[in-house]
Parts: sequence; C-alpha cells; structure tokens
Amino acid sequence: MTFPHAPFHIGPIEVPNGLVMAPLHEITDQPFRKFIREVGGPGLVVSEMISSEGLIRHARKAEKMMASSGEHPYSMQLSGGNPVSLAEGARLCEEAGADMVDLNMGCPASNVTKGGAGSALLKDVKLAEACVSAMVKAVKVPVTVKMRAGWDESQKERGEFLDFLRMFEAVGVKSLAIHPRTRSQHYEGSADWSIIARAADAGTAYPIIGNGDVNSAEDAHRMIAETGCDAVMIGRGALTNPFIFRQILDPAFEVSVEMRVDATLRYFRILVELLDEREALHKIKKIGSWFTKGVPNGVAFRQKLQQMNEPAVLMAELEALKHGAAA
Ligand SMILES: Cc1cc2nc3c(=O)[nH]c(=O)nc-3n(C[C@H](O)[C@H](O)[C@H](O)COP(=O)(O)O)c2cc1C
Repeated sequence: MTFPHAPFHIGPIEVPNGLVMAPLHEITDQPFRKFIREVGGPGLVVSEMISSEGLIRHARKAEKMMASSGEHPYSMQLSGGNPVSLAEGARLCEEAGADMVDLNMGCPASNVTKGGAGSALLKDVKLAEACVSAMVKAVKVPVTVKMRAGWDESQKERGEFLDFLRMFEAVGVKSLAIHPRTRSQHYEGSADWSIIARAADAGTAYPIIGNGDVNSAEDAHRMIAETGCDAVMIGRGALTNPFIFRQILDPAFEVSVEMRVDATLRYFRILVELLDEREALHKIKKIGSWFTKGVPNGVAFRQKLQQMNEPAVLMAELEALKHGAAA
C-alpha cells in the first residue's frame, strides 16, 4: 500500500490512512465528525479548537466540544497560551477519551491572538515550548501541534518555523500539521506548499501533515508529490465536497447529485439526533447548504433554506430537491 492509502503513526496510534479532516471552529463538532466518518475517507478527525481556559472553568460550551460518537482515532484540539491551563486542559481531554491532544498554533483571529493563543505563540518560541512541554508532561496520549508558516512574512522568510520543528522534536511532539500561510495573510493569498516541503525535508522524527488549499483529489495527489508530506489535511474542500476523501482514495469514485443531496439529508438527521432543534437548524443553514453547491435548483433551495424553521419541512424540501434534481 502506498500513500495516501497506507497507515501512518502518531506516536503509538495507527492512523488508517494519510487523510485528515482539519479542525474547523463551529464546524467539526460531534455531528460533523460523525457525518464525515460515515461519508468515509478520513483516517483521523480533529475537534474544533477548545479553549483550555474554558475547560478548566468547566464551561459547558467547551466541555460539549469534547463529545464524541466513539470515533477513533480522535484528536482534540486545545487553544490557549498558558502552560498550566494547557496542561490541565490536555489532562481533561485525555480523561474525556482523546486519542491525542493537539495544540492550536495557527488561529489568526484577534480575539484568540490577543490572549497569547493560536498563532500568537509563533512570536515566542520559549512560551510555545513551555506550553507544548507542559502538555506532553501532563498526558500519556500523544501531543501534536498545528501551526502556520509564521506570524508574518519576515518571520517566514527567516525560516523560523524550522526552529519550532526542532523544538517540537526535543519536547516530544508526535506530529505536526502545517498550514503554510502566515498569520498576517489570514486566509488571503495562497498556501505556500514549499514550506511543507521544507518541513518534510527537515528529517523530523514525527510525521508532517500538509494542509492548505486542497480542494480536489488532484490537489491532494499534487501536494503529496510536490512536498513529500506524510499525510494531507483538508478543511474547506471537505465542506463543498464531503466526498473528497473517498475520491482521493479511489479516483474512479463518482459523486451523483442524488448522493450529494442524500449526504445533506443524512447530515441533518445526525444534527437532529445530537443537538436540540434550534441548534440543528442553525447548523444546517450554515454548513449543510455548502453540500448542495452545484446541485440543480440548489440556489433556490438555499434561499428557501434560510426561512425554514421546521425539520420536517426541511427534510421534505431536500427530498424534493433530490427528485427534482434527479428527474
Ligand atoms: C471556518 C474555519 C474555522 C477554522 N477553525 C480552526 C480551528 O478550530 N483550529 C485550527 O487549527 N484551524 C482552524 N481553521 C484552519 C483550518 O484547519 C485549515 O488550516 C485552513 O482552513 C486551511 O486548510 P484548507 O485550505 O483545507 O481549508 C479554520 C478555518 C476555517 C475556514
């Protein structure tokens, strides 16, 4: 078996293939992870970022983010900039059943960075080291990191991310996902895959997971060929096409309009099963509508969707979309 079909290891945990569903705040919650596992393909799923400070305060919102439907391997991602809180947060994640705990060193949002968390950790290698090291010491499960290429272009040009890579190895990090935009870029411009290639070339003892702008099976295979990364992580590409992982694993896998609408229906049923009705409706309006992009009559459906407040009506409209579209 060759990559991306071949398993890879994060510490002692075997990930069944080299495809990872990226953490997406307010998206990769318990219902979405259950859904994307069912659709099939990703070897690893990651929670949305969970505030370590929220966890130690036992905030309901943060605790709810840890909930799983028994999926394995399952990585829980923490955000924070305080080593003591992150260590305790990691311990709580382990206790809640995480197979591994990830530290977010990439979030560009100013409400996160102003508290010294997310990509702000890229400005201070010593603090980043204290955070990761405290987490590693606090838990038995592997600790992993997800980072950007740097805080800004000049830090990226100086290649400081390579210092972080070496520091991660020294403190016992077990995998690294790199989204090679800088914090200054937010989501503008394009992901500079040459940074992933340099990381993969650095000879770290842990696997390098490439991330950024993989929107098709072709992109995934190109990332693998161009960078030599050990696994590919996909975020937004799986929202517009939840079947992307299947298509990467099997180039002959075709997605029909009916399959896309059925997937939307299935996602909504999972939402209704796991969330209260109001939350389920909010999520389907926000996320489910991406799945119908490109479906005939999809634009009219999405406009109607925003006005729908009855689960039964929504399901009937989705059925109609499928039959109308399939006719
Ligand atoms: C809506 C949204 C939410 C995100 N939330 C998180 C998060 O909670 N943790 C994290 O590490 N990255 C987060 N990211 C970054 C993604 O995981 C990923 O690195 C980025 O979208 C680039 O990959 P892509 O081009 O495949 O989407 C988020 C991105 C988006 C668009």
